[in-house]
Amino acid sequence: MLNLKHIVLTMSTCLTLSACSIDDNDNNNQSDLLNDELRQVISAQNIKVLTVPDSTPSVESNIVQLGKKLFFTKALSGNMDTACASCHHPNLGGGDDLPLPIGVEALNTELLGPGRLHAATGGHHDGGPTVPRNAPTTFNFGFYDKAIFHDGRIENHASSPARGGVNDPIRTPDVMFADDDPKAGANLAAAQARFPVTSAEEMRGFTFEANNSNADVRAHLQARLQGTNNELAKNEWLIEFQTGFSDTNGTAESLITFDNIAFAMGEYERSQVLVDIPWHDYLNGDNNAISESAKRGALLFYNSADAGGFGCASCHSGAFFTDEKYHVIAIPQIGRGKGDGVTGDDDFGRFRETKVEDDKYAFRTSHLVNITDTAPYGHDGAYATLNDMVKHHLNAEQAIADYVAADVQTGIQTDNWQANTNAALAQLKSLRTQGKSQLLDHSFTETDVDDVVAFLKALEDPCTQSPSCMNKWSPAADEADPDGLRLIAVDAQGNLL
Ligand code: HEC
Ligand code: HEC
Repeated sequence: MLNLKHIVLTMSTCLTLSACSIDDNDNNNQSDLLNDELRQVISAQNIKVLTVPDSTPSVESNIVQLGKKLFFTKALSGNMDTACASCHHPNLGGGDDLPLPIGVEALNTELLGPGRLHAATGGHHDGGPTVPRNAPTTFNFGFYDKAIFHDGRIENHASSPARGGVNDPIRTPDVMFADDDPKAGANLAAAQARFPVTSAEEMRGFTFEANNSNADVRAHLQARLQGTNNELAKNEWLIEFQTGFSDTNGTAESLITFDNIAFAMGEYERSQVLVDIPWHDYLNGDNNAISESAKRGALLFYNSADAGGFGCASCHSGAFFTDEKYHVIAIPQIGRGKGDGVTGDDDFGRFRETKVEDDKYAFRTSHLVNITDTAPYGHDGAYATLNDMVKHHLNAEQAIADYVAADVQTGIQTDNWQANTNAALAQLKSLRTQGKSQLLDHSFTETDVDDVVAFLKALEDPCTQSPSCMNKWSPAADEADPDGLRLIAVDAQGNLL
């Protein structure tokens, strides 16, 4: 009786309204089916929400506040012209919005993003960027626990079960490949923060402690902040370190050490947790948290080729979307390169560390949280859009054939990009032939790509899009500027970031 009544009601609606409610029911059924299918995949693959490490420091903590000031001072670069934030600005997605960064000797040190150029004088560049790789985001850096940098030249040996240990040992470029660095510090973030100051192109400059060791560079910068070499006209760092390390009796000598500098900057980065993403709401049961297109994209992302998908999660695995391993995917090689190959402007990636032939052109799988905010893409920023980056994964050979070494950054070096990229592609093909590649070609439609990109958009924390939410990671205008060398970042139009 009840059923019959329902049918009669439905039919009458159908007769009176132009949009037939039977269609609506179909749509509802379709969207239920899509949710059912996706929830089955989620449960079968045990897909989880990213859990924030217990040790994450709060942005308000004293140590992070100190780290923030250090991250924004140009005093940590040899010639006092570059800060960490010059390439990792919180209002630029934790990066610099450029394919390849411009560090030292910028024409306008405060200008970030498109329009940042090298000064005409200096002679260490040819107009184009001298840093050979794209600056990755510092957001969510604390979720990595194995591999740092595009080639993993900082890595956590503890993740190899044979080595045991939780917090260490950490290998860095200061020691041989198989060794641990006794000075690496408390965690991967602290270990990493010891290195940008040693890179001539990023912060060191070409004359500062020239021909001297990394240790000499750090000792010199430490003395500068301690005030023992009188290089800073204004120096109020001691009070900042006393507050940061909650040690009011500490002296410049005991507190302002490079170990402490690196630790504080690492804590600042580890506080940048931006994981409040719609995809998590969906995982927590809210069917309306993401669009239908994003749901179709999620199915393509997680399903293997056998199940009609693109198998993205075979490398972008787990809640942080990375296996923290190295794969050859043959992204077009643009820029100055790392000195590899016959012409010296190639980049052999992981091979540079391991010297294992299969690692030639392999790079670390990037995580994908807030990926919409961190264009351009790839280890050298070769692709300006997510659509192009996704298409590359689906058919690398075609994408390379379609690639125009885009003029997205003034003077970017592209003389040998085709030869270098073809060598990477040959490596990919050879690994495929040997059954050693997880990157398969797929046939696809434009809608498929749009759907995958819609899914990637569901991995964006809305905070990253809101300066008022992000400003807590930049020093406020009225906050102490301990050396008067704070980066006051502007865009090409002169607007404050
Ligand atoms: C000139 C631009 C530039 C400056 C300045 C700079 N970086 Fe970077 N940063 C990069 C580039 C490029 C990479 C990637 C290098 C690679 O993988 O070989 C990187 C990598 C990183 C990473 C690793 C991210 C990952 O996903 O593995 C962290 C963390 C980081 N930088 C923090 C810092 C800190 C802290 C400072 C200041 C002490 C700093 N950076 C200064 C360009 C810069
Ligand atoms: C074989 C392993 C593998 C598979 C499968 C894979 N990726 Fe990747 N992905 C990588 C690696 C490695 C990189 C970094 C490459 C580089 O920097 O040169 C990357 C980079 C990316 C980036 C750019 C990240 C950044 O910060 O620049 C995006 C976006 C991406 N992948 C999405 C996808 C999507 C979507 C799929 C499925 C269609 C997919 N990936 C499948 C290994 C893989």
